[in-house]
Amino acid sequence: MTMESYEPAKIGIAEIDEQHEEFFMQLSLLRVALIDGIQGQTKVNDTLHYLETFVQEHFETEERLMALHQYPYLQHHRQEHANFVQTIAAIRQRALEAGSDSSAVIAVEIEQRLGQWLLGHIATVDRMMGEFLEGKI
Ligand SMILES: [Fe+2]
Repeated sequence: MTMESYEPAKIGIAEIDEQHEEFFMQLSLLRVALIDGIQGQTKVNDTLHYLETFVQEHFETEERLMALHQYPYLQHHRQEHANFVQTIAAIRQRALEAGSDSSAVIAVEIEQRLGQWLLGHIATVDRMMGEFLEGKI
């Protein structure tokens, strides 16, 4: 996934679009850290930790805006976020257990599971949210 593939994913709410861009950048950094292998282990942990923190803050931003404007599909959207938080935690656990042995495998999983989830999430539920919030904020 490249930064170019992010462009069509914009939903039109500046604060959220900026965070999504940061999200994609963090995923790219994490892939690089994983591919670096043994030397990258600290970097992998740091990057995963940062990603988890960032994701929490980002989801809170969206959920705060949805709650503030009484978005009717907040619960469903919130559940999608919660599932993603669990997926990241599971991958972090596996990365910790695997050490440098499975870095390449985990890098592929990040590309496929986290990256594709994000693109899919933005294209569907975030876009719906963006259309609802447009003109309200
Ligand atoms: Fe979202």
